[in-house]
Amino acid sequence: MESRISRRGLLRASAAGLAAGAVPGLVARAAASESGAASAQANAGAVAVASANGIEAVRIAVELATDKKMRPVSAAVRGVAVVEADPNDMSVGYGGLPNELGVVQLDSSCMDGPTHNAGSVASIEDIMHPAQVAELVMDQTDHVNLVGPGARQFAIDHGFPVEDLLTDRARKVWLKWRSTRTGDDRLWPLNDTNPVDPVLQGEARPWGTIHCSVLAPNGDLGCCTTTSGLAFKIPGRIGDSPLVGCGMYCDNEVGSAGATGRGEAAILSGGSWLIVERMRNGDTPTEACLYALRRVAAQAERGSRWQPALWKDGRPNFGLTFYAVRKDGLYGSANMRGGGRFAVCDSKGPRREACAALYE
Ligand code: GLY
Repeated sequence: MESRISRRGLLRASAAGLAAGAVPGLVARAAASESGAASAQANAGAVAVASANGIEAVRIAVELATDKKMRPVSAAVRGVAVVEADPNDMSVGYGGLPNELGVVQLDSSCMDGPTHNAGSVASIEDIMHPAQVAELVMDQTDHVNLVGPGARQFAIDHGFPVEDLLTDRARKVWLKWRSTRTGDDRLWPLNDTNPVDPVLQGEARPWGTIHCSVLAPNGDLGCCTTTSGLAFKIPGRIGDSPLVGCGMYCDNEVGSAGATGRGEAAILSGGSWLIVERMRNGDTPTEACLYALRRVAAQAERGSRWQPALWKDGRPNFGLTFYAVRKDGLYGSANMRGGGRFAVCDSKGPRREACAALYE
C-alpha cells in the first residue's frame, strides 16, 4: 500500500535526515533551504517557485491558486504566460532566440499532481503559448508528448492563433551569430567567450527557460516549464523542458521540481525526477537540488572524456539550476556555478532569493 506523506511528516523526516547527515559529503552552501524552512513553517498558503525571470509568474500563480482556487498546474501555466508573451525575454516564447536556420521552435511541458498526468509539446512553431498547448495535450488526449508539425496542428485545431515569434531583436542576434560563426560548432555549444549581444552578457549560446512549481493551499501540486531552448540549436533539437522527469516533474505525495540551463544535463541525469525522489526520502528541496547537481557534475566529468569542453577548472563548464517545492511548503533552489537567484511567492509576496551553489 502506498503511504501518504503529510506536510508534518515530511518536516519530521527532513529534520531527522539533516541530523543524521542524509547527504554525506555535501559541501555546498544551503542558504535557500534555511530561509525556506523558516517561511514554510509560517506559511500554510500557496507557494510558487520559479526561475529568476518568473517573478511575475509566481505572483500570478499564487494569486490564482489562492483566490480563484485554480489547480496548481493551471496556475503555473497562466503564470508563465506573461513571460511567453514578453518580447524582451529571449529564452522563452515570443522573442526567444531561434534555431540555426532562424526559426523559433518552442518546448514546453506541464504536470498535474492530483492526477499524475502530464502533457508536452516539443519543437512547436508559430504558437506563442506552448505551455497552454501542453496543458491541452494533458487534459484533452491520452498522449503525453506531441512534437513539431503535429503539435502545431493540434494547437491550431484548438483555436491558437498562428503568429510570427521571431522579433527584430532576436533576428539581429541570430544574424550576428551566423556571420561570426566559424565552422561547425555543433560539438562545442559551450563557448561563452564570444558575446553576440550585450543582453546575452557574454553567453553565446544561452539556454534560458522558465520553470514554475506551485503548491496550492490544499496541498496539491503542479508545475510547468516553457522555453525557446538552446539558442541557434540544430532544427528539431529537443531540450529537457518538454521531457517529463527532466525539465519538470511532480508527485502529489511529495513535491515538485524543475530545471533551467543546459537541458542535455537535466536529461542525462533525469534531474527533476531525481529531486522529487530525494525529497520523498527526506531531503529538503535545497538538499535535493544540490544532490542532483552533484550527480550532474559527476556525469559531466565522465562525459568530458568524449567532449572535453564539458569540464573546465575542475567543474562542469555549463550552467544548470534546479528549483523545488515540497508538499509541506519548504522550497529551495540550487545552481551549478553560484551567483544565481530564483523567484518565490508565498504569503510574504513575490521576491527573489539566492540559489544555493554547488561550486562558488
Ligand atoms: N533548458 C532548456 C533547454 O536546454 O532547452
